[in-house]
Amino acid sequence: MIDLAGRFRALWDELAPVGRDERSGGYLRYALTEPELCLRAWFRDQADRRSMPVQEDGNGNLFAWWGDPAAGDAVLTGSHFDSVPHGGAYDGPLGIVSAFLAVDELRAAGVTPVRPLVVGAFVEEEGARFGVPCLGSRLLTGEIAADRAAVLRDAAGVSFAEALGDRPAGADPALLGRFAAFVELHVEQGRALVEQDAPVAVASAIWPHGRWRFDFHGEGNHAGTTRMADRRDPMLTYAFTVLAANKEARLRDAHATVARVAVEPNATNAIPAKVTGWLDARAAEPATLHGLVEAVRAKAAERAKRDGTELTLTEESATPLVAFDGGLAKRLAALLDAPVLPTGAGHDAGVLAAHLPTAMLFVRNPTGVSHSPAESATDADCAAGVTALAAVLEELACR
Ligand code: GLV
Ligand code: MN
Ligand code: MN
Ligand code: MN
Repeated sequence: MIDLAGRFRALWDELAPVGRDERSGGYLRYALTEPELCLRAWFRDQADRRSMPVQEDGNGNLFAWWGDPAAGDAVLTGSHFDSVPHGGAYDGPLGIVSAFLAVDELRAAGVTPVRPLVVGAFVEEEGARFGVPCLGSRLLTGEIAADRAAVLRDAAGVSFAEALGDRPAGADPALLGRFAAFVELHVEQGRALVEQDAPVAVASAIWPHGRWRFDFHGEGNHAGTTRMADRRDPMLTYAFTVLAANKEARLRDAHATVARVAVEPNATNAIPAKVTGWLDARAAEPATLHGLVEAVRAKAAERAKRDGTELTLTEESATPLVAFDGGLAKRLAALLDAPVLPTGAGHDAGVLAAHLPTAMLFVRNPTGVSHSPAESATDADCAAGVTALAAVLEELACR
């Protein structure tokens, strides 16, 4: 009999090649593109093998049911398949693979749920293709309107509705109402578990966070003939804003990142006409986050005046502070004898937490790195994650 770590590895190896970029070793698994569609087909196959009927909700989210899909009080577990550009292997898929293995563990132990147990895969969690993170869970819960989601476009101009093959269905209170709890298992995206020498933790909260697009408009002109004093160069305003964001975040013990930029016309010998930078900002407290973004905006606007450029600022997404169900987190931490941690990363669990009792489990990541090919987890820790998830599901769905 192969042990759980071996069974994890065998199932994991089925997914490992899908969407991997040989050059970087990272993953390009954008929502509803070929690699992600392949993983969705894998999901259906895994569900089939376990006689779990699959339901797609009209927003691109998949649910595989152990128990009657028409029944209420179901316990949902799962995560997402999509990745950031050149992302790690574990962010997302670990929660889905672990969910199927937890079902196997319960069945092997002869445990039968008294309420349905559902494995879910949410679409476009990272927002890497259409710009809004947790798009699938936001649609299901009604936190984004179907009309707005339908017209979000990827870099090639394809809309979410076109990628989905239909206009998204939007809020589905009937389906949502059938879930009594959600548990998302996820690779840890920091080093807290390495430092605490523990394989698994329970989440307490998700920092409030969001994405802001800074468009700096200037005057495109010749790099060789335009006197320095005559320039209206938006690259300068952009560069100053990146430094200001870093400084303001450090002052507040918050996080600010500018990791995506678009330059027009993007030519070596032309002063740009426009530079767009995307600010990802996060903080432990909503007021700190608000203060951070406002300070960056004010500094950018002041600098724009100096540079003769113009700034337009657009909030592309905002996620409020999520405090996971405190009673549930305590109960699971006691059950698993695991530490409890907050995180600065966004998750579908954060969206669902506003609608139903929700918990997260984190699995130790030896590098502490995520959203990068260096993200990692050992098979032994992944097995510990499956064991923990099975115990949690038994507690929530089988008693
Ligand atoms: C998603 O993983 C995010 O936190 O950006
Ligand atoms: Mn992620
Ligand atoms: Mn994730
Ligand atoms: Mn995430």
